Amino acid sequence: MFEIGASKCPPTAKKLRGGYYTPQPLADYLCNWAIRRPDDLVLEPSCGDGSFIRAAAPRLSTSGSITAIELVADEIAKAQRSLADIDPSIEWKCGSFFDFAPQHLPSPSFDVIVGNPPFIRFTPNDLANYRKAHPSKLISLSGVNRPDFPQSLERYIQSGEANGVHRGYKCRVRNRWFDVPSVYAPDAFMYRQIHHAPLLIANHTGATSTDTVHRVRLLPTRNIEVEKLCGSLVNSVSFASSEVLGRSYGGGVLELEPREAEKLPIPFSEDYGVDVDYLDKKLRAGDLEAALDHGDDVLLREGCGLSKTDIDRARSAWRRLRDRRHSRKHGQRS
Ligand SMILES: C[S@@+](CC[C@H](N)C(=O)[O-])C[C@H]1O[C@@H](n2cnc3c(N)ncnc32)[C@H](O)[C@@H]1O
Repeated sequence: MFEIGASKCPPTAKKLRGGYYTPQPLADYLCNWAIRRPDDLVLEPSCGDGSFIRAAAPRLSTSGSITAIELVADEIAKAQRSLADIDPSIEWKCGSFFDFAPQHLPSPSFDVIVGNPPFIRFTPNDLANYRKAHPSKLISLSGVNRPDFPQSLERYIQSGEANGVHRGYKCRVRNRWFDVPSVYAPDAFMYRQIHHAPLLIANHTGATSTDTVHRVRLLPTRNIEVEKLCGSLVNSVSFASSEVLGRSYGGGVLELEPREAEKLPIPFSEDYGVDVDYLDKKLRAGDLEAALDHGDDVLLREGCGLSKTDIDRARSAWRRLRDRRHSRKHGQRS
């Protein structure tokens, strides 16, 4: 029905910011419907090159107003140029709507919000590219005095204070609210909140984590292969024990606190023939039972000498406890 306006941005950048503009007749039609009074206060949260502003302006008098926000400076400049001499005052803001909103909404309030925000459907590739272009960084400032911070860092910290980040519980109890207390990279991770069964994940990326995930360190005195330790957790005795040691809250989640996780029995020996690649493949495919078949066979039967009957009992105990937990709803604790 309408020809979508072409943009000069490179396709990937354009796609990532959702830069597909609304044809003028469509923006006119929508503003005609949405703007009811000439003194309405209008917000366009992602104005692009301004089709909604062009449509809104003739419908407003000098007592109306438009606030136009746009992430990309070149685009907002285009909109400003094409709307230089019009009656209602336009407040142009170049930046992210999400930075603007906490400070300015709901006051001043608006009568009408028009626009076509970036409704973006990302592919995994888009996200990977975006992450590469915008890596997130964990800043560790331990041992650096605040007067020595570069200006840009000081501004970043002050913007956190302006938004009240320093008053949150975790930050408030620190000597300096922005010092993350512990940033070491562990040998492995373990989920604190568990849906089916506990898993240990070897840390091949040098990642760290907050306390939503447990960090696991190997004793330097024991020369243990971390992947093998991770694989050794995949067995029915460890899984059933996790159900007994952990707590289950409403919603069916099992939670293992650090002390409880430390008590989890793991049948480990360098000599056990656990096939880590096979387990990894099965777990990634969501085939927990196939992974358990292998773990039970090499760890419990061959390794620890358990009988088939005992292994079956452990497996069915795990299944029953897990299923009972899953069926438990809303706030009950065991
Ligand atoms: C689908 S286009 C629509 C532009 C305009 N509203 C229109 O209808 O023609 C989305 C616009 O949102 C802008 N944008 C993306 N993220 C934004 C953000 N966080 N804050 C403000 N604008 C943003 C993009 O640069 C792009 O110009």
